[in-house]
Amino acid sequence: MAGELAGKVIFLTGGGQGIGRECARAYTQAGATVAVADINLAAAEDAVATTLGGHGLAVACDVASSASVQEAIAATLARYGRLDVIHNNAGISSPSKPLHETTNEQWERVFDINLKSIYYTTLHGIEALKASRGSILNTASMVGLLGQENHAAYVATKGAVIALTKAMALDYAPFGIRVNAFCPAAVWTPLLREWVQEQPNPAGTEDFLNHIHALGFCPKADVVADVAVFLLSDRARFMTGVALPISGGAELGYRRLGTA
Ligand SMILES: NC(=O)c1ccc[n+]([C@@H]2O[C@H](COP(=O)([O-])OP(=O)(O)OC[C@H]3O[C@@H](n4cnc5c(N)ncnc54)[C@H](O)[C@@H]3O)[C@@H](O)[C@H]2O)c1
Repeated sequence: MAGELAGKVIFLTGGGQGIGRECARAYTQAGATVAVADINLAAAEDAVATTLGGHGLAVACDVASSASVQEAIAATLARYGRLDVIHNNAGISSPSKPLHETTNEQWERVFDINLKSIYYTTLHGIEALKASRGSILNTASMVGLLGQENHAAYVATKGAVIALTKAMALDYAPFGIRVNAFCPAAVWTPLLREWVQEQPNPAGTEDFLNHIHALGFCPKADVVADVAVFLLSDRARFMTGVALPISGGAELGYRRLGTA
């Protein structure tokens, strides 16, 4: 298929819903073949069948398990014989708590899924990426650059993803492998809806989410998917180690309430 990502095989974690599913759609439209790796196999299968029109592979994968990631990448290589991109996107947002209220179990879970997963996909996928001179894309977050109240462990994982992106970009540049991250502020997905429900005033939180973006609204995941296609395309061939905001200006300066 013609397109900016023609011929590329993309291993995408957390592609069953939300940002991942929208990226899978955009990658496929740009000519790539996507292995949708998700802990929720039914969601991955539905994504391939409905969103991708049957083109692609649904594969069960718990990104917090080295063995599971190894199997999922092996299944992708067995099916397509190559790997051009690993997009580390799977993530969880809970708990919405300050650090001292975060349990040891919650801390470990969010770090395993949001951060250690990148270690596992790299461990099991780097040789294939060296062969293709491929690319790695990490879904980070603006909170990893700015901080966020009442969300300590999650914020720490996203800050670490951004730092890790830079370290990996340097380590893999000699192999022609670019490593980038993007940083959405808020995007309407099931994860964001769950986070809203954890807030003391969910209805007011929706207004807040519209207001934090200088452009005046909280977007859907299509805005993220378009940038992801760009970062994986040859147009971004001289970009590596970036943490690109996709935030409608959420991080810019001092703004007055009620002017959005
Ligand atoms: N939605 C936002 O506002 C927002 C903002 C900034 C960053 N992000 C990041 O974007 C990424 C995607 O978020 P989303 O909003 O689309 O979330 P989502 O909950 O809508 O979708 C996440 C997907 O990841 C899968 N997943 C969860 N745990 C997994 C595991 N252990 N192994 C494999 N798959 C697993 C889920 O089954 C689901 O399909 C996350 O890394 C999140 O932190 C989201």
